[in-house]
Amino acid sequence: MTYEWLGLTGKVAAVTGAGSGIGRAVALNFAQAGAVPVLLDRNADAMDQVAQEIQALGITPQVISMDVSDPESVRQAASLAGTVDILVNNAGMSRPGAMDQVSFEDWTALLAVNMNGYFLCSQAFGAGMLEQGSGALVHIASISGRNPQGQSGSYSVGKAGVLMLSQQLALEWGPRGVRSNTVSPGLVRTPMTEAYYNVGDVAERRDKAVPIGRVAQPDDIAQVVMFLASKRAGYVNGADVTTDGGFELTLMSSVPRPGYDSK
Ligand SMILES: NC(=O)c1ccc[n+]([C@@H]2O[C@H](COP(=O)([O-])OP(=O)(O)OC[C@H]3O[C@@H](n4cnc5c(N)ncnc54)[C@H](O)[C@@H]3O)[C@@H](O)[C@H]2O)c1
Repeated sequence: MTYEWLGLTGKVAAVTGAGSGIGRAVALNFAQAGAVPVLLDRNADAMDQVAQEIQALGITPQVISMDVSDPESVRQAASLAGTVDILVNNAGMSRPGAMDQVSFEDWTALLAVNMNGYFLCSQAFGAGMLEQGSGALVHIASISGRNPQGQSGSYSVGKAGVLMLSQQLALEWGPRGVRSNTVSPGLVRTPMTEAYYNVGDVAERRDKAVPIGRVAQPDDIAQVVMFLASKRAGYVNGADVTTDGGFELTLMSSVPRPGYDSK
């Protein structure tokens, strides 16, 4: 695939959670587009593997072990990376739990990574963008940010926070040359969710639940990130791109409607 149209050659693109799943795919796509990825993750071994894959494409990435939930670690990572052109906030985790039972510790731990981490990285990596008067932030949100799900703990709350964080940044930093947008994936098969797909016929049922007939691969999300990060999306600011194969449109399909039930 050629990415010339995007004009990303030579751009420096920081990606959090680059060691796995969507973050790995984003970093690899940036390298294919001629950008230089800065890999950020707390899992150094996973990043080393991704770095090798990127080197095989002829690009040498920067690799920085860090924890997005730790302000000092984020500050150090941003200082090591220097000024970047693009930041993809992606590092996240899940801590399931029902609302009447989820512990404050789990609640706080998830928000520290999935929401505070996005804020900390935006501020630390955004500083250089604001100074140079140009840059692009792309945050991986989720359709969970507007659709509650049982046993989700603080996950949906954190994603709702990310959607507004991005709009807040778009409003405040747009006039200073820095755009901020979100991508909201639906169901994506990654190491985070893999365990579900290995149970019985879940993989098949999940594929069927999506109007285009399949769950997403990390690459499906990465390609939308590429566009939003590029100058081709230069007039897109404060937007959310739902990237779910139409899954979010299926609400009315669950309503029993005798004589008109669709499959
Ligand atoms: N998989 C899905 O179905 C799905 C759907 C919608 C949104 N998302 C979102 O996409 C993003 C990536 O998810 P994924 O499915 O690729 O997950 P993943 O578990 O495959 O990868 C997450 C990466 O983030 C890193 N990470 C976690 N906490 C960190 C921290 N504190 N500091 C630094 N790195 C940290 C992990 O080490 C891992 O490499 C997350 O924000 C997730 O919420 C995923």
